[in-house]
Amino acid sequence: LAGGDLVVRHGRLFAMAGAVPWRGAERGRLAAVEDGSVAVVAGRVAYAGADQDLPASLRALPTLEAGGRAILPGLVDCHTHVPFAAWRADEYAARLAGATYADQQRGARGGLRGIARSAAQLRAASDEEVLAFSRRRLEETLAAGTTTVELKSGYGGDGAGERRSLRLMAALGSQTPQLTVRTGLFLHARPAGSDRAAWLNEVLGALLPEALSGGELDAVDAFVEEVAFNLDEAAALLTAAQAAGLDTHLHAEQLAPSGAAAWAASHGVTSVDHLDHLDAAGVRALGRGDTVAVLLPGATFLAGRGETPPLDDLLRAGAAVALASDLNPGTSPVASLPEMVALACRAWGMAVDDAVAAVTLNAAAALGRSTEVGSLRPGMRGDLVLLDGDELALLAYRLGPAAVATVVAGGQVVVHEGRLGAPGPKAS
Ligand code: NIG
Ligand code: FE
Repeated sequence: LAGGDLVVRHGRLFAMAGAVPWRGAERGRLAAVEDGSVAVVAGRVAYAGADQDLPASLRALPTLEAGGRAILPGLVDCHTHVPFAAWRADEYAARLAGATYADQQRGARGGLRGIARSAAQLRAASDEEVLAFSRRRLEETLAAGTTTVELKSGYGGDGAGERRSLRLMAALGSQTPQLTVRTGLFLHARPAGSDRAAWLNEVLGALLPEALSGGELDAVDAFVEEVAFNLDEAAALLTAAQAAGLDTHLHAEQLAPSGAAAWAASHGVTSVDHLDHLDAAGVRALGRGDTVAVLLPGATFLAGRGETPPLDDLLRAGAAVALASDLNPGTSPVASLPEMVALACRAWGMAVDDAVAAVTLNAAAALGRSTEVGSLRPGMRGDLVLLDGDELALLAYRLGPAAVATVVAGGQVVVHEGRLGAPGPKAS
């Protein structure tokens, strides 16, 4: 963390400092401090509250005037597939013409498709090429307000490729002002020519222990689906990761119901993601448990067949709901969390306040990072965004990253009035 000093003054402050996560009876309207300020010292929040109570010592810090605009915690993208090396727009075009995502994963119509194709693209690119392409993607997320971003392996294609992805994730983490959280998506697709049992053995016997001893991982993930891995295989990986103190995630119930979400809710899994085909038992389980339900509107709209995840049922049952970009070349080529807010609000009827909590408080919970990011409380990272006006609804209304004017990461201005980079030196 670079550790800047800054005070942002006279904004409409949404510190989001209530209960975490935002669920059940805790939901409602997000509270605003109408003339609010946030002070950051050495990269950490030192004060967030009414401007009139800003301690005198903090008034001397370098100052950014919010001019009455909304101040929010930096957005948290709890699910991406960065690093990857190339797009797969032709596969989307084929789906528009009637192909299904599941058939593409199976390679049903011949030709290299799906995750295996992204693995081949990654292998064909040099480290410098992957890093340049992936940095560009992270810049897109940053310009849209994302200050914490999850990165996943999963396109490595085999053991050596997965180890390389973990190295590339570490390099990306050192090249962005964002907080990066590293997930090993070791059960995404089995390597060509290997069977699932052999791959699971390699993951449990070599990949995971090596990554743990190298300190390369914060979490693991598995894709539970008929075209990928079954719940027993995923459970073996997640249980081993939990024993080592990692967070755990599942790609669950995306293409068909599987019972994975209910299993996750009773086994301490940090989040279950997708849920387009979640059934009533899964909804009840997530309403009772602490596993965060992460919905991915980009994938729903670009890879789905018109289904809708049971958002209202989840909220009514008391589940903690987050939204994420799922930024990846197969199902969701979209880097902007505001775009996800806009889709969820417009297409699923999500309330703006619920959607804002879903990309801050609840997304932080989905990464097990609620004490660090997702709200503005003393001691937390000095990550915040200034919207281009005073209404939270801007995030749903501008249909894309334009609602976010200014982004501060660790007390440093990293996007200023829509442009990447700190404000230039002032003419004297
Ligand atoms: O989150 N569904 C599984 N994994 C990714 C997409 C993988 C791909 O098609 O490249 C997802 O949708
Ligand atoms: Fe995903």
